[in-house]
Amino acid sequence: MKVSELIVKKKTGGILTKEEIDFLISGYSHDTIPDYQISALLMAICYQGMDEHETSYLTEAMIKSGETINLKAIKGVKVDKHSTGGVGDKTSLVLGPLVASCGVKVAKMSGRGLGHTGGTLDKLEAIPGLSIEKGQADFIAQVQDISLAIIGQTGNLVPADKKLYALRDVTGTVDSIPLISASIMSKKIATGADAILLDVKCGNGAFMKTIEDARTLALTMCKIGKKLNRDTRAIITNMRQPLGLAIGNILEVVEAVETLKGHGPQDLLDLCLDAGAIMLIQAGVIKNKDDGIKMLKEKIASGAAYQKFREMVAHQGGDVSYIDHPEKFKKAKYIIDIKSAQTGYVEEIIAVTLGEVAMKLGAGREKKEDNIDPSAGIVLKEKVGAKVYKGDVIATIHTDKANYQEYIEELKTAFRLKMEQYLSLCREVLLHG
Ligand code: URA
Repeated sequence: MKVSELIVKKKTGGILTKEEIDFLISGYSHDTIPDYQISALLMAICYQGMDEHETSYLTEAMIKSGETINLKAIKGVKVDKHSTGGVGDKTSLVLGPLVASCGVKVAKMSGRGLGHTGGTLDKLEAIPGLSIEKGQADFIAQVQDISLAIIGQTGNLVPADKKLYALRDVTGTVDSIPLISASIMSKKIATGADAILLDVKCGNGAFMKTIEDARTLALTMCKIGKKLNRDTRAIITNMRQPLGLAIGNILEVVEAVETLKGHGPQDLLDLCLDAGAIMLIQAGVIKNKDDGIKMLKEKIASGAAYQKFREMVAHQGGDVSYIDHPEKFKKAKYIIDIKSAQTGYVEEIIAVTLGEVAMKLGAGREKKEDNIDPSAGIVLKEKVGAKVYKGDVIATIHTDKANYQEYIEELKTAFRLKMEQYLSLCREVLLHG
């Protein structure tokens, strides 16, 4: 097979066969096909797309490039959840223990990734002593023992994705639905779960900006999962503002703990109940969503969900006194209230802007080798729909950086206010009348 001919085939709208895709991915993984040819191929895929067979073959070829995890030793259905990523997304910290407290086996391996704010692993590592590094045998033993483990990827899983993702990042070829689908699903399937729930984020803070694109991505990934015999389901959730109120590692752990104890923000709780109920159905524990939501609410009310999180923290070496008494966590040097410059209704909160500001305050990494400050971040005081008056606190920043002033104006641009002067005037007249 000639690589240049396959590039032309894709460029002109042809459909690649399984053998051709295997040849391309295997050649790239073994360094017999150079970056420049794969870059051209990726760009052709961005313009021409891939049909569902090609996307599944690509996923399989990527899985074959490395090791896979065998979770068969763990009895029962192993359910995993994946979010396509958003600002303030601490769902895994809540959902894992919540679902595991219902007896479902949750064996989750997360990648670290570059993000505005830290990923799930960075959040967990904000708990002193907690280790996300475990060998496969210990990982399996922990899931058998307490039904729950969240660790970093072990072994050489999907090396083709690492190479391809790095190349996509520098060639402007990240935003292709078949490429994103194969990248996510290859990693999920390689980590051995029987059932996968995908949380596809949609809005300004997500990869998918429109509901149409989010739906296409969700369907594409579900079809791959079905072809590869995994019960794969998806929900599309809102990223037109950050999830919950906290952005930043310790701040998000504390919010997750509050949610597990029943005092978290409503949007985070609602998402965890919806997603959790679907995972319970996938695991065969209940038949319908209403029963699932009832069971999950009971686990929160009885304290079982929080106890499961405690067990996981303890098993992974973490000091549980920090989550029992969150006031023990390190506090940022500067905790500064940000006030609204005008009066109006919060129409939109540009999540990506807050993510970038949080990163600059120390909560995330710009480059892989950057260190994270676990105490840094932002806490929102208002969300979409709220009425704010000039001078009201809309957010609080947490940082050790003395130059925090530089980021305040940028943070304020994230809050899009609508004036609605006439409406508010009428309300005031009525109130005073
Ligand atoms: N997340 C991934 O793992 N891969 C992509 O291509 C995009 C988001």
